Amino acid sequence: MKDIEIAPSILAADFGYLMNDIKSVENDCEYLHIDVMDGHYVNNISFGIPVIQSIRKYTGMKFYTHLMITEPEKYIKAFADAGSDNITFHVECAKDPVKLIDEIKSLGLTAGVAIHPDTPIEKVFPYIGKADIILVMTVYPGFGGQGYLKSSGERIAKLKKAIDDAGCDTVISVDGGVSNSTIKEIYDAGARLFVAGSSVFNSEDRSKAVQDLIKCATLS
Ligand code: DX5
Ligand code: ZN
Repeated sequence: MKDIEIAPSILAADFGYLMNDIKSVENDCEYLHIDVMDGHYVNNISFGIPVIQSIRKYTGMKFYTHLMITEPEKYIKAFADAGSDNITFHVECAKDPVKLIDEIKSLGLTAGVAIHPDTPIEKVFPYIGKADIILVMTVYPGFGGQGYLKSSGERIAKLKKAIDDAGCDTVISVDGGVSNSTIKEIYDAGARLFVAGSSVFNSEDRSKAVQDLIKCATLS
């Protein structure tokens, strides 16, 4: 992974022109963030396995699949077979997160553990060095286009310190409200993989939107 990666979230894409929108970010980004919502864990329903299978045929981007679903253990194999490169599940939903991480890795994927803004950040500390990615939600999961939660910087910094203290290379990812005005604070706190929905897909020039985010994050 590069020092900083922007993962556009297709939740903010135009589903009528989904592949066009994916193609518009392919050259600038390695990861494509895919938000799966079940109407149970979150108050919204997005899309699922058939959509991932379909887009898998037309792009080589790495699929970073964010499962906002209850009982993620039931669906790991199906989301892996659909073409995910990473599966990230919520710590609040998994019965046995370590078992799930092991299963995801045994299928040849990278594993992520996501955490809700209201869950104490310490809840993910046991997965440092086990998960490849820890995804800190910086909005309430369920919808795009919300404002970045100000309390997140402190949570990310705490997590970064715990990762450094453990001598691990677990990547901190963030999801929600990532924009030119919020990304620097998040980058400085230690995050490196930034999910960005509206700030990328609501821009006419996606390539410029991605490059602007990187510039704003790394501005000294
Ligand atoms: C929210 C999703 C996010 C969402 C982010 O539940 O997990 O990935 O697409 O959208 P923005 O970047 O618009 O906040
Ligand atoms: Zn997401």
